[in-house]
Amino acid sequence: MRRFEDQVAIVTGAANGIGAATARRLAGEGAAVVVADMDAAGAAHVVETIREAGGLATFVPVDVTSRAGVEALLTAALAAYGRVDVLANIAGVAYDEPFLEITDEKWKRTLDINLTGVFLCSQVVARHMAAHKIAGRIVNMASTNGLVGEADLAHYNASKFGVVGLTMTMAIELAPLNIRVNSVCPGLIKTRLTQPALVDPRWVEGYLKKIPLNRFGEPEEVAAAVAYLASQDSGFITGHQLVIDGGQLTF
Ligand SMILES: NC(=O)c1ccc[n+]([C@@H]2O[C@H](COP(=O)([O-])OP(=O)(O)OC[C@H]3O[C@@H](n4cnc5c(N)ncnc54)[C@H](O)[C@@H]3O)[C@@H](O)[C@H]2O)c1
Repeated sequence: MRRFEDQVAIVTGAANGIGAATARRLAGEGAAVVVADMDAAGAAHVVETIREAGGLATFVPVDVTSRAGVEALLTAALAAYGRVDVLANIAGVAYDEPFLEITDEKWKRTLDINLTGVFLCSQVVARHMAAHKIAGRIVNMASTNGLVGEADLAHYNASKFGVVGLTMTMAIELAPLNIRVNSVCPGLIKTRLTQPALVDPRWVEGYLKKIPLNRFGEPEEVAAAVAYLASQDSGFITGHQLVIDGGQLTF
């Protein structure tokens, strides 16, 4: 399937993990992809693999917490490919800390990247889509942690609940402009973000009991859901939170 032929996508957090898988998926389906991240080495590798597979991609360095940086990202994307049809807001961080020990610095950093970053990228890109009457699609990275609480992740949970609320309100306001906005809510996916927990066999055994499908997710499985929400296949869906968690939230 090449659902993104002649379309341009910006993917933030595309140097690693779920963002990298999303960039590869969209490029594999024909999109010209802007690989937007702070990690130049990781991004260069992703661009290289996309090009080797015959796809179109370019790296644009960005810190999603900076409005000037995000505006420069849009300018670079337009210089490279002329328009933006899809924005996938994937960049994010997580710190495992008990609520009583969270520092102001970690609280602020988590909210800045995971929530303010989504706001800034979405506003800057949606203004471009609106100005050019592009039937745009924005897919935000929330989490199952945006729908239920989890110990030691209060700042992360707050940021992801924020993304869910932002997604719903953006969906309402941007619908008249023909821009759809949805989010994905993955459970535990195997990336470097979750690697520290995944190397502990006792922790893994305990956590798997919470997942009916009895395994962790792959970045490519989230990328497939992002691609669905970014494609015309989901044409009548906006303001939705798509859970990808092996059934974890059914408990
Ligand atoms: N791995 C999981 O289990 C899981 C589950 C639910 C949601 N998520 C979310 O998925 C997203 C991707 O996570 P991942 O597991 O692939 O992690 P990852 O660490 O592999 O990738 C995160 C990427 O975001 C980039 N990034 C961080 N801060 C940035 C900034 N300020 N500006 C630009 N780029 C920045 C990093 O450089 C990195 O490339 C995050 O938003 C995370 O919260 C992950």
